[in-house]
Amino acid sequence: AAEPASAPGWEEHRPNARLAGRRILVTGAGAGIGRCTAGLFRAEGAAVALLDRDAAAVEAAAAACGGAPVVADVTDAVAVDRAVASAAAALGGLDDLVNCAGISRPGRVEEVDIAAFRQVIEVNLIGAHAVIRACLPHLRAAPWATIVNLASGQGLVPAGPSNAAYAASKGGLITLTRSLAQEFAPLIRVNSVCPGMVPTGMTAGRSGDGRQYALKRNATPLEVAQAILFLAGTDSAFVTGIALPVDGGRTFH
Ligand code: NAI
Repeated sequence: AAEPASAPGWEEHRPNARLAGRRILVTGAGAGIGRCTAGLFRAEGAAVALLDRDAAAVEAAAAACGGAPVVADVTDAVAVDRAVASAAAALGGLDDLVNCAGISRPGRVEEVDIAAFRQVIEVNLIGAHAVIRACLPHLRAAPWATIVNLASGQGLVPAGPSNAAYAASKGGLITLTRSLAQEFAPLIRVNSVCPGMVPTGMTAGRSGDGRQYALKRNATPLEVAQAILFLAGTDSAFVTGIALPVDGGRTFH
């Protein structure tokens, strides 16, 4: 069985190759934060597989950063198993997983029917869990593994009305993260990131003027990807189970 390794000393710190030698799967990597994360991770020296349900988008994103595209809808457990197997084959194993695939269905309770609510939970919560389950044998075989789940500030402190399904799914994902951090310790660290508003396809058309943030602006995808990089790499070697707000000072959690 693999032994948990300790973090390297500062002598080994490589500022421009923080993920050198690591094999990483990023879901939801066809667009937005996931696509940016895959690119940053490649720049930091990782081998990356990009998973998305949108085949054209994930192929373009993979070509842009030099990663391996795999296509699956995270709500289809059979397709997820197949895609994770092909990602692991392409990279020769998996050291880290970043769960970015997610959807949002804003609306008041009367406007979001049960099917729409269920779909949000299926993608954001159960989908993340399905990818984690499929990756687990690979992560357990790695000497030093991490999982980072893209939750949301909405999962810590819901901001205003009209996004209950999303907030509930992300609150669930934060709790799933804390549970699995205990279950998978000490071999695999599991953390979540809780961004505020980031202009992407998901938030297109929404106001998000940043006034609710102490920093008075929205985040960029790269600012969120940098937080994911911290949690995926050895810089966070003694951090597990956390929900890290990247929200410009909205929640102060
Ligand atoms: P996005 O819409 O730009 O990208 C999401 C990607 O996930 C798309 O490529 C989409 O095809 C893929 N995807 C969606 N459902 C899928 C499924 N069932 N199976 C496989 N792939 C699927 O979204 P964005 O903004 O980059 O969001 C990424 C993550 O960050 C999400 O989990 C989101 O909830 C979270 N987040 C986003 C915030 C924002 O303001 N944009 C704020 C807080 C969290």
